[in-house]
Amino acid sequence: MQASRDMGFESPKAPLWARRDAAVLWHGFTQMSCYEDSAPVIVERGAGHYLYDVDGRRYLDAISSLWVTTLGHNDPDLNRAARDQLDRIAHSTLLGNGNTAAVALAEALREAVPVDDARFLFASDGAAAVEQALKIAFQYWRNRSVTGRTAYLALGQAYHGDTVGSLSVGDGGFGTDLFDPLRFPVVRTPGYDDPDWVPKAVAALDRNRRRLAAAVIEPLVQGAAGMLVTNPDKVAAFAEAVRARGVLLICDEVATGFGRTGALFAGDLCGVRPDLMCLGKGITGGYLPLSATAASAQVHEAFLGEDLGPRTFYHGHSYSGNALACAVAARHLQLIEERGVLDRAAAAAEHLGSALAPLAARPGVAEIRRRGLMAGVELAPPPGAARWGRKVCAAAVRAGVLLRPLGDVVVVMPPLTITDDEIDLIAAVLSAAIDEVAEAESDG
Ligand SMILES: Cc1ncc(COP(=O)(O)O)c(C=O)c1O
Repeated sequence: MQASRDMGFESPKAPLWARRDAAVLWHGFTQMSCYEDSAPVIVERGAGHYLYDVDGRRYLDAISSLWVTTLGHNDPDLNRAARDQLDRIAHSTLLGNGNTAAVALAEALREAVPVDDARFLFASDGAAAVEQALKIAFQYWRNRSVTGRTAYLALGQAYHGDTVGSLSVGDGGFGTDLFDPLRFPVVRTPGYDDPDWVPKAVAALDRNRRRLAAAVIEPLVQGAAGMLVTNPDKVAAFAEAVRARGVLLICDEVATGFGRTGALFAGDLCGVRPDLMCLGKGITGGYLPLSATAASAQVHEAFLGEDLGPRTFYHGHSYSGNALACAVAARHLQLIEERGVLDRAAAAAEHLGSALAPLAARPGVAEIRRRGLMAGVELAPPPGAARWGRKVCAAAVRAGVLLRPLGDVVVVMPPLTITDDEIDLIAAVLSAAIDEVAEAESDG
């Protein structure tokens, strides 16, 4: 097990880099007053499934760099796609004009996504893709001269991003409650931790059917909620109920998309074809910031009208359809096919399930939840013990496996191409990390 150990450097560079970092950067979801002291991993390069820090220590990237990396880091084919595009052009605007890379990607995505005759509006982050979907759904009804459909139905525990709109359909937590006054109200029904989430959602749909513009879900897995999972039949039943009541369905596949759940998209597993679909994270294999909102032809059609007329969607971002990102994303889709990545991911998911299973019997573990290569190990800290998730992940990082918790849930979401040996390493390091923290707790 060659993991990140103290490799005996005379003067490690990491503390210096952490100091330089803390002096100029502001990290998301991070308390900067103690950032420098928390031994952050300062990455210098990556190769395959590993990250290398400024001192040459290597870390197995068991969270796919926050759920984005699919094929590994520094992939020669993706590198070549980026370089080839760079020699042509990096970026030109999509507002009113086009670029060949964006067209080619949209053509390829159209064949791949479970949306009827889709049109793609590109952005750069998952939250922006959700924001776009919400606004499109809102204007869709306006364009069709239907009044009163201005509300959204969203699930408990949902997370859809950090912009004010996506935060509104999200269910709070993560210390974001202070933004509550900025959130617009939504019809909230229980999330996947309630076995009756579908009938309860259907009842809410019935109570609000004339005022709902759209219903939004993360199909199959509520990732940021701590990997809460449901089954395909339930998602299909929910989608059917939404459709039957004439409400638009938005599937947020920012986290579940691009192979994470066992198919290219969770919608494929559920047999669900939404009106609007949000893509992000793995779309470029984890290379570049790109996201997209896919709209069905029927939704898109409602926006056609006279030039500069009121049906136009007055929304767009500077880097929409960035050519560099689109070229890498298009090559990424080809590579998933050429390399049989989904088959490998399915085998890896099975192996991950078996490798994590023994942890479930541990006193320090409450539950293990998994769908495909999205897994969460919910810890069961003893009474009075604080920040177990944080401590367990810190111990794993010291042992060379990069993990990050969501509260007391340790997320395990490795690249789709992870090997069985690497999965075994993750499970062994996580197991030892739980022991280490439990022992420290009982000593102290
Ligand atoms: C389901 C879902 N939607 C949207 C987002 C937001 O994506 P981003 O962080 O790229 O804005 C996330 C991020 O975790 C997510 O899990």
